[in-house]
Amino acid sequence: MMKLKKFMVTVSALCLASLSLAGCGKKQDSNKLVVGTNAEFPPFEYVSVADGVVDKYAGIDIEIVKKVAEDNGMKIEINNMEFDSLTVALSNGQISCAIAGMTITEERKKSVDFSEPYYVAKQVMIVNGDNNDIKKAADMKGKKIAVVQGYTGQIEVENLGFKDTMSAFKKGTEAIQELLNGKCDVVVIDSATANQYIKDNPSLKIVEDDDTFTSEEYGIAVKKGDTKTLEMVNAAIKKMKEDGTIDALSAKYAEGASDDASGSDAQ
Ligand code: ARG
Repeated sequence: MMKLKKFMVTVSALCLASLSLAGCGKKQDSNKLVVGTNAEFPPFEYVSVADGVVDKYAGIDIEIVKKVAEDNGMKIEINNMEFDSLTVALSNGQISCAIAGMTITEERKKSVDFSEPYYVAKQVMIVNGDNNDIKKAADMKGKKIAVVQGYTGQIEVENLGFKDTMSAFKKGTEAIQELLNGKCDVVVIDSATANQYIKDNPSLKIVEDDDTFTSEEYGIAVKKGDTKTLEMVNAAIKKMKEDGTIDALSAKYAEGASDDASGSDAQ
């Protein structure tokens, strides 16, 4: 009896000790998912003061990462930064995961680890509605091409050998503006984002070339070797793929959730 009591006292003392340890310093950090994104990529992430999902940020990715945090009883913080800065921010520990419609590439895998893919995309071309010159990717030869700095669209255009007539802009909207102003002939960007731009600018149209532009997969990136965050993210993605959450989010945002605040399929 005595022994058991002693044991119980020790156990509760240990519990208290670990509780107070957890209470100091790091506890807040480990209970918050610090996410990096570049909110210039509708329908995956964009700023919407009226319909923000986390703070003023909305989109498929923001909803996904919000669920990851919720599933794990964590708070969430979104850090909006330049797309090219995300991998660096992961490496130096500024953020614990990056979700940004980021295509899983061998090159990026050298500096970060990726989750299982959660979305399949491809590059497409956007041209003015009356442009009949560009039907295939090869037709971009000699044309003024606009891409976004650091996106896979830029890499694809360079791989096609069209770097000389290509300009890289900081934002998708800037590339689109260039096209609307007649200063370039074509914009190369991810499919779902292109759809969004077309919806906003009906004078433009999309040209696809699936022989040239093969599929790309989006993944959530974590710091190299951060298996803890990776496992957490993978478990949540698996669940959201299986229970239809990701399909439902894609459908909801494809309809232009930014203009539609009805919230008909709210969780
Ligand atoms: N999928 C493309 C890439 O990985 C574009 C991603 C841009 N994402 C963004 N949030 N700005 O390069």
